[in-house]
Amino acid sequence: MTYYPFLKWAGGKRWLSPYAHALAPAEFGRYFEPFLGAGAFFGALEPPAAMLSDCNAELINCFVTMRDQPDHLYSIMQRHQENHSDEYYYLIRSVSYLSALEKAGRFLYLNRTCFNGIYRVNQQGKFNVPRGTKSSVLFAHDDFSKASRLLASARIEVCDFESTISAAGEGDFVFCDPPYTVSHNNNGFVRYNEKMFSWSDQIRLRDCLKAANERGVRFLVTNAAHYSIRDIYQSPGFFINPVSRASVIGGGNQYRGRYSEFLISNYQPDFFGSARDLPKARAAQRLN
Ligand SMILES: C[S@@+](CC[C@H](N)C(=O)[O-])C[C@H]1O[C@@H](n2cnc3c(N)ncnc32)[C@H](O)[C@@H]1O
Repeated sequence: MTYYPFLKWAGGKRWLSPYAHALAPAEFGRYFEPFLGAGAFFGALEPPAAMLSDCNAELINCFVTMRDQPDHLYSIMQRHQENHSDEYYYLIRSVSYLSALEKAGRFLYLNRTCFNGIYRVNQQGKFNVPRGTKSSVLFAHDDFSKASRLLASARIEVCDFESTISAAGEGDFVFCDPPYTVSHNNNGFVRYNEKMFSWSDQIRLRDCLKAANERGVRFLVTNAAHYSIRDIYQSPGFFINPVSRASVIGGGNQYRGRYSEFLISNYQPDFFGSARDLPKARAAQRLN
């Protein structure tokens, strides 16, 4: 286990992050990640200049606090660890803090102890996920100072993806991991996300990436391996590479054809080029 990501996030790309270097362009200017979530890809790539953003203000406040006040945040987490219980969880869940620091501690505490690390709010915007089974508030691999150093030079903002992507210029690299609106396995819409990220948002994202492509930006976007996604990205100079979690992690033949995600880019990543099957190539190296 590594010290990063420090959050658990639905749809997180921790499983893809070991291949981040083989998937990113060999060289690029600034790094842009407009759907940050737990930021697994950023953490693996460790780019020197980054613009990170998400529309979730609580999440972004947690990243900013981790960057600017890691020691204070750690102290708050120690306090949560000491007091953690059923009663305490629901008490903290109901509190509205004023300080950004306490809000960040609350967010991280709830993320680590709620049911499955889910983030869900009610119509009043109040977090309403029940307590989960996990009781660790702090982990042995936590290193807030290291996470802070990793984030030190990053710009971190709450905003819609469009303003982040439109700030990228020639030679920059944009990695996008949007919520999925369609799913590979039921040929239909993902109900919950349909509201949060609609089909028109998917089209808006495609249009932003097309405009970025015209400016000389390189992009890599993930999405469900669904014909409707292929349809909207099919374009000269765009590469649509299917992967499944199993094929990326296991590299075994038995997983062929069970693709669940597309990795779409306007350059062909090394991962799909000479070293098409990186896990297999690595395994072969180990055998030699
Ligand atoms: C699939 S998650 C990203 C997961 C991330 N790659 C990781 O490794 O944890 C998608 C993120 O997009 C954010 N999001 C949804 N709609 C957005 C919008 N219109 N603009 C910016 N971010 C948005 C959500 O808050 C969520 O954090």
